[in-house]
Amino acid sequence: MEDRARAARALVFLYVDRVLVGVAALKRPTATYRDGKFRAAGVSALKSTYSLELGWVFVPPDHRGRHYSRVLVSAVMSQADNAPLFATTRSDNPAMQRSLENVGFARAGKAWKSKRGDYELVLYLAPPPNSR
Ligand SMILES: CC(C)(COP(=O)(O)OP(=O)(O)OC[C@H]1O[C@@H](n2cnc3c(N)ncnc32)[C@H](O)[C@@H]1OP(=O)(O)O)[C@@H](O)C(=O)NCCC(=O)NCCS
Repeated sequence: MEDRARAARALVFLYVDRVLVGVAALKRPTATYRDGKFRAAGVSALKSTYSLELGWVFVPPDHRGRHYSRVLVSAVMSQADNAPLFATTRSDNPAMQRSLENVGFARAGKAWKSKRGDYELVLYLAPPPNSR
């Protein structure tokens, strides 16, 4: 995990009154990882456009519901120099989906079942392919 964090293009830390209230990252995933997500979503034809991933978004439970994820996601976007980004999130995570949609992401392809648990994942892209 440390290696992956060091390889990230940007790590974002949000502090309010000197308290850490959220983190997020602009990740440089391997092509194998990226290709797997796009294949699972059924949109492999789009994969080569998207080499950076917005992820590791986390707001501690006590600090949720205050639009901090919107701030975090916007900060990550500002580090991307307008490069196309992808993100994945659980299909049952409306707060994360709303945060992504607020900054221009749109859902792409179909949901797929996670290998890590009993939930589905969805792929989001910014900009969406039909807007380029
Ligand atoms: C997902 C997570 C980052 C959201 O953080 P947060 O700071 O509480 O989110 P926000 O307060 O910024 O809310 C995000 C948006 O979702 C909306 N929202 C929240 N709950 C919602 C719900 N149940 N249905 C629809 N929209 C919802 C909010 O109104 C807000 O939209 P707005 O800014 O347009 O009003 C946080 O819950 C978390 O860390 N979860 C665990 C880790 C995780 O799931 N990370 C995402 C991995 S991809």
